[in-house]
Amino acid sequence: MASGRVVVVGSLNVDATSYVERFPAPGETIVGRDFGTALGGKGANQAVAAHLAGADVEFVARVGDDANATLARSVLAGFGLAIDGVVGVADAPTGVAQITVADSGENTIVVTSGANLALTPGVLDDVRASLADAAVVLTQGELPVATIERLAELCASLGVRFVLNLAPPVVVSPDALAVCDPLVVNEHEARAVGIGRDVPEGAPLEDWLSHAAAAVGRVARSVVVTLGAAGAVAASPVGAWAEPAPEVAVVDTTGAGDAFTGTLAAFLAEGRTLAESMRIAVAAGALAVQARGTVDSYAPRAAVLAAALDDETRRAEGATPA
Ligand code: RIB
Repeated sequence: MASGRVVVVGSLNVDATSYVERFPAPGETIVGRDFGTALGGKGANQAVAAHLAGADVEFVARVGDDANATLARSVLAGFGLAIDGVVGVADAPTGVAQITVADSGENTIVVTSGANLALTPGVLDDVRASLADAAVVLTQGELPVATIERLAELCASLGVRFVLNLAPPVVVSPDALAVCDPLVVNEHEARAVGIGRDVPEGAPLEDWLSHAAAAVGRVARSVVVTLGAAGAVAASPVGAWAEPAPEVAVVDTTGAGDAFTGTLAAFLAEGRTLAESMRIAVAAGALAVQARGTVDSYAPRAAVLAAALDDETRRAEGATPA
């Protein structure tokens, strides 16, 4: 199948990650086991995931004029992504994320946006031709709200598929949510936009299906709710689907949602259905949690497709996952 163009208008951070046994309590100092500095930001992570999944990716981002910008550009270029859309601004540092990853694989993240805030609505005028030529335009909640809303409006007027990962769950206008196809949210973000408010924490996938379906046309054109280790559900005007995740040994969940979303966008861009794209994206997310870091934990297209096929076969055979 032909690869489609995915334009990611997104955030870029440098992640400073401490690996700890457990998270510190307020006021407490603890000693970390390990530390690493790496490319991050939901936009950059999703751009890399979409690229690894086979999409022709254009990444539009803003960085500072500093050493972190050099690091970020060099990692992106190392993956084979074009970096001309990653523009430096003079008056702000590159975005940074302070992350702790506990032995459980869970994380805490504090983002200081820096140059990401220079991605204002005006920037979109400069990339209008690229947007018009995209199969999918993808963005995240880490950008200024006015930019997300303008991007949604532009995509609607250009007739281009708009995918919004509302992470973190900032408040965007109902009009912007309405054109999302899909709106990608985790369970907390889903509740923030009025999807599944009554569904208890940790409820099974099936409990989310009707809520995702009820949000189609009410909140967004289509909806995907990611449910961590449980998998994900999707709903569109033609149906609703649940995709369980395989049982895997979790090392680090940081950026696994971005692996999911970037992969989803790539497969939608090449013309796969929402259900099939979600199935493959669940496999990409499950691979990503099995290694440390964000983009360094992402698997290439062939490995993701093989894992998705394995998961499907295991389910068809009714076998217990290894
Ligand atoms: O989703 C993970 C990402 O969130 C990290 O890379 C961090 O930079 C924050 O944006």
